[in-house]
Amino acid sequence: MSVAAVLTAAGSGSRLGHALPKALVPLAGEPLVRHAARRLLAARAADGQRIETLVVTAPADHVAHVERSLTGLADGVRVVVVAGGPTRQASVAAALAVLGAPVPSGASAAGVRPTDDAPGDPTVVLVHDAARPLAPEELVGRVIDAVRAGRSAVVPGMPVTDTIKQVDAPQGAAEGLAAARVLATVAREQLRAVQTPQGFTFDVLRTAHAAAAAHAHDEALAASDDAGLVERTGGAVWVVDGDERAAKITTPRDLAIAELLLRDERA
Ligand code: CTP
Ligand code: MG
Repeated sequence: MSVAAVLTAAGSGSRLGHALPKALVPLAGEPLVRHAARRLLAARAADGQRIETLVVTAPADHVAHVERSLTGLADGVRVVVVAGGPTRQASVAAALAVLGAPVPSGASAAGVRPTDDAPGDPTVVLVHDAARPLAPEELVGRVIDAVRAGRSAVVPGMPVTDTIKQVDAPQGAAEGLAAARVLATVAREQLRAVQTPQGFTFDVLRTAHAAAAAHAHDEALAASDDAGLVERTGGAVWVVDGDERAAKITTPRDLAIAELLLRDERA
């Protein structure tokens, strides 16, 4: 059994509005992607197993910059930085190609396939967002352990605390003049806000991506998380406890909160 991870860092960070792509924006003096990678690589499964291969997606014009931002972290781990695609889904697919996943069509990428596992002893692949730089090691370990315990697709989930209402207008539509009307209040007990890292057997993840490859470059049709692709193929997805420290940095406010949390953690 081996564990590989994909760290997505190819987004532009348009909502953060920084001059640099989001993954390269500093948090306490270090780029987000470096924080996220350090915590991933420090994680251990219950039996001590750690991530052996890390594939990081970078904006095409920042591959070398992302490589430099990871200097000194590898410590025996194989780290590969690849150019991402136009959507998160396309970026993960590009990383899986580097992992050498032979897609069902028979195409295959020369690469750094992480494993020579015996049959029946699957490789675990985590997919994690650099935009969640403070996701703790324990959470990473919990996800790996759940996959190894036989759950072939695992997401960390948090209870939803706000009251959620369904409205008749898409997100982003102007609501300043009360233009959106409430259709219903959604029962919250069965809702979870999901995070990363998400964990999969290599087989389940590459099959889900291969099935959705036609939509990977289309912002409107691409999936915003990998478990969503598994759901589309009819596969079961399981939830483990999430962690509030795995919150995603989307806006400048999120970055400011992460700065405070990190200061607290180091105090
Ligand atoms: N991501 C990626 N490739 C893309 C788009 C996103 O690898 N084409 C990654 C981001 O780098 C991030 C994660 O997916 O780590 C989650 O995406 P999001 O938070 O939306 O980041 P951005 O797309 O960079 O931000 P924005 O949507 O505000 O532009
Ligand atoms: Mg985005």
